[in-house]
Order: sequence, then C-alpha cells, then structure tokens
Amino acid sequence: MTHTPTPPRAKLASTGRYNPPKVVTNADLESMVDTSDEWIRSRTGIRERRLADADTGAADMAAASARVALERAGLDAKELDFILLSTATPDRLLPSTACDVQALLGASNAAAYDFSTACSGFLYGLSMAEAHIVAGQGKNVLVVATEKMSSIVDWSDRSTCVLFGDGSGSAVVQPATDGRGILSSYMRTDGTLAELLYRPGGGARIPLDISVLDERSHYVKMAGPEVFRSAVRSMCEAAEKALLRAGVSGDDIDLLVPHQANLRIIESTAKYAKIPMDRVFVNVDRYGNMSSASIPVALDEAVEQGRVGEGSLVLMVAFGAGFTWAANVVRL
Ligand code: UT7
Repeated sequence: MTHTPTPPRAKLASTGRYNPPKVVTNADLESMVDTSDEWIRSRTGIRERRLADADTGAADMAAASARVALERAGLDAKELDFILLSTATPDRLLPSTACDVQALLGASNAAAYDFSTACSGFLYGLSMAEAHIVAGQGKNVLVVATEKMSSIVDWSDRSTCVLFGDGSGSAVVQPATDGRGILSSYMRTDGTLAELLYRPGGGARIPLDISVLDERSHYVKMAGPEVFRSAVRSMCEAAEKALLRAGVSGDDIDLLVPHQANLRIIESTAKYAKIPMDRVFVNVDRYGNMSSASIPVALDEAVEQGRVGEGSLVLMVAFGAGFTWAANVVRL
C-alpha cells in the first residue's frame, strides 16, 4: 500500500523535562540485590538511574516538566486547552493524575485526562493532541508523560528492579506552521500478550488485599526475553511504517529518538531503519527505562544539546506493556 503524505496539522512547539536529583548507580544496586555492574551494563547499557524521593509524586514531576515546556512555548498555563497525561504510575487510582497536574499548574481553562499505553504513551499522546487540534477543540495541548517507576517495581526482584528510573517529559502541541509538525503516525496494540509485562494484582480483577501484598503481585512482572523479542520486532515494524507514511527514508532522518529500555533493542531498531548510531539519541545509560517519559526526556535533551532544532526531521519509536507500539516522523 502506498501512502501520499499529507501536510502536518500539529507541531511540537516546545519540550521540557524533569528528573529527580537522586542518582542510583549500578554499584548501589549491588548492595541491594544479587546483581553486578557488569551484568546490567552488558545486558542493558544502563549505568545509573534517577529515583524520586517519597515526597515526590508523578504529578509533581509532570508539573515540573510541563512548566519548562510552557515557558519555552511562551504560554501561560491558563492558555492550555488540554492536558493529556501518560502514566503507568498514577499517584492515586481516582481521580486521574492529570487532574492534579491541572491544579498544580493552575490551568484553569484546560480539560485534563490520563491515558494508559505504557512506554508508548508519549507517541499515543501526540496523536491524541493532533486529533483534538484537527477537531477544532483547542490550540494549546500539553502532552505530558510522567513515571515514578520506583513505586511499582519489586526491589527484591533483580530481573526488573535494575531496569527502571523516574522522570517526566512534556511537549506543547499546537497547530502546524510552515511545514513543521507530525508528518506521520503509526500505532498498534496486541492485548493477547498483556501478561508478559504487567501488574497482576491490585486492580479491579484482583483488588488489593493481604494476599496481593503477601504474593507481591501488585509489582511489575516481566518475561524479559519474550518482551525483548517483541520489542525489536515491533519497533522495527513501527519505524518502517512511519517512514513509509511520511514518504521519507532512514537517510533523511536527522535523529532517531527511540524508547530507552535497552541499548541492544535501540541498536537493532536503528540498524533495521538504516540509521547509523551517530544519528541515534541514547540516554538509557543515565536514566534507565522511564517508560513513557523516556522519549520526551530524550527529545528534550537532544534539543538542548543542539543535536536537533527547528526544521530537523526526527523519527520517534516506542514499545511497551500491552503490548503497545508506535512511531512518528516529525519535522521539529
Ligand atoms: O519498556 C518496554 C518493555 N521492556 C523492555 O523492552 C525490556 C526487554 N527485555 C530486556 O531488556 C532483557 O530481556 C533484560 C535486560 C530484561 C534481561 O536480559 P536477558 O539477556 O534477556 O537476560 P535473561 O532474562 O535471559 O537472564 C539471563 C540470566 C538469568 O540467569 P540464568 O538463568 O542464565 O542463570 C537471570 O537469572 O541473567 C540472570 N539475571 C541477572 N543476573 C544479574 C537476571 N537479572 C539479573 C540481574 N543481575 N539484575
């Protein structure tokens, strides 16, 4: 099937990020579980991660990253029409974390809601923002991803606790101008594989009770190697489809900003998309896997470091629990 690229309808006007100051190194983890710096680095590429303290919630980190993005867009929070918040770690189950962020920002004219697509959340959020703009429902949309992964990992399970970190990334999305904006989107879901990466207990099906706590089933469980294989396959597929839909090739891409779960997954995706590693943004070594916050934090760092700027062509590719996967080609 061929695609005729359409002009962009929504652009990323600005980005922002927040990471908690506390650095936890692989050496620190060696004193907590039976692991080693060598194992973590060679299997994942991770050297350290940032962890939030007990007083910092997902909404606090979201508000912090959002304030940066708002300032860079020259917007007052009262000018926001929507706050679309991606998280797998809501501060409370009711109401949504987006409501807390709306209150923290004083975004008194915004509608705010959470959505749950795990690590693919930022890219799903960009498409939702675009849809609200195309529908004429608003002009200033905040997409914010925030994850306090340290609150849902089992700190006695070495196969998961070494992988994750905390943080938040934001983007202000506005109507496209001068060819800048989202050139293509691709999103997919396969719920038949949900139990390869999930939290079995603590929801409506198995409400939180003493047996859930005893079995530690409210923490993240992951079948690592199976997830790894699906991640590589799905991220390659998503990259290919997004490039095709945008009518561009890997050669045209100034920077690939992939989900930061594992350096080996990133390298496989880049190879498949024919993008050399010097045009791939990697920060998994410093932050670990921040689920949906990984891509916006990486994009914001890439902008800050001058790796990309206005007019650059960026490919973003994500994969996560669900399974969900997605990719976008964006002219910044
Ligand atoms: O965010 C999106 C979703 N997540 C991902 O994309 C993550 C995808 N999966 C992965 O990145 C990798 O599968 C992991 C990094 C999670 C694991 O790497 P792996 O190469 O697939 O290792 P493995 O799970 O096959 O484990 C190999 C060995 C096992 O020991 P035996 O059975 O060979 O004796 C594990 O028990 O490594 C052991 N192991 C560890 N050893 C030291 C597992 N975790 C650790 C650890 N330290 N932290």
